Amino acid sequence: MIVYLNGEYLPLEQAKISVLDRGFIYGDGVYEVVPVYGRTPFRLPHHLARLAHSLSGIGLANPYGNEEWTRIIERIVAGQPFEDQAVYWQVTRGVAKRDHVFPQGVAPTVFMMSNPLATPTPAQVEKGVPVITAEDNRWQRCDLKTISLIGNVLMRQRAAEAGAVETVMFRDGYLTEASSSNVLVVIDGRIVAPPKDNLILPGITYDAAIEFARDAGLAFEIRPVARDEALSAQEMWLSSSTKEVLAITTIDGGPFASGAPGPLFRKVYAIYQERKRAGR
Ligand code: PDD
Repeated sequence: MIVYLNGEYLPLEQAKISVLDRGFIYGDGVYEVVPVYGRTPFRLPHHLARLAHSLSGIGLANPYGNEEWTRIIERIVAGQPFEDQAVYWQVTRGVAKRDHVFPQGVAPTVFMMSNPLATPTPAQVEKGVPVITAEDNRWQRCDLKTISLIGNVLMRQRAAEAGAVETVMFRDGYLTEASSSNVLVVIDGRIVAPPKDNLILPGITYDAAIEFARDAGLAFEIRPVARDEALSAQEMWLSSSTKEVLAITTIDGGPFASGAPGPLFRKVYAIYQERKRAGR
């Protein structure tokens, strides 16, 4: 596998960084994941805009302009032997003597790799997936896509140990998101999604799902979703760059709603499949 590290394209085994990298020492950095279908990144400008938001949120200058990012991504994508990919990249505050305060005059570390895109299996799409629920105990800047993911990692591990694919979180009685996906629900025949505030990641797939629903003339609403409303909703979906849209059919070990993916899920899923291949 050919990866990118600080201006060089190298085999993965040759890509090395210092143990003093602030990404390693502090989790001081941000990242992105963009899905690639048939070697074309899906909604790349949206991911680059979110990267800029994350960088500015941690006070780190964007090392490249969007054209340069696009060029690097294209080269990494071209270097892989598979068509559908998940490109991962991160920018850290670089290598410096350990001191919490930002170092001056230090170059950021930029790393990029691409793996085969693992979307849900046909059985998961057809039957839906199990999740568990938990109180959201992460920090209050979940809008930044930082590499400090221990809160998310612990939540995802809890789900894995329960045989579930995700942990859906609630903060002070309201739905936030899942450990590595956004969550949308259907209430009274409308798609309802929590607002993109500081408590959730502004998901590119969340936006795509809402845009596709709007284009199809489906009703939607952005507003806080209370826990009881979520748990008694007609449908609940996960959304992410790798999960696309995925219906939840089991919650905390019991059947959720009808126990099968709902009609609005099927509609939005079908549009997603069409649009991802069309590259829009
Ligand atoms: N995760 N919320 C969290 C906490 C996430 O980590 C992600 C994505 C999302 C969905 O965002 P998007 O639709 O832009 O992928 C929401 C990525 C895929 C990951 O960490 O691998």
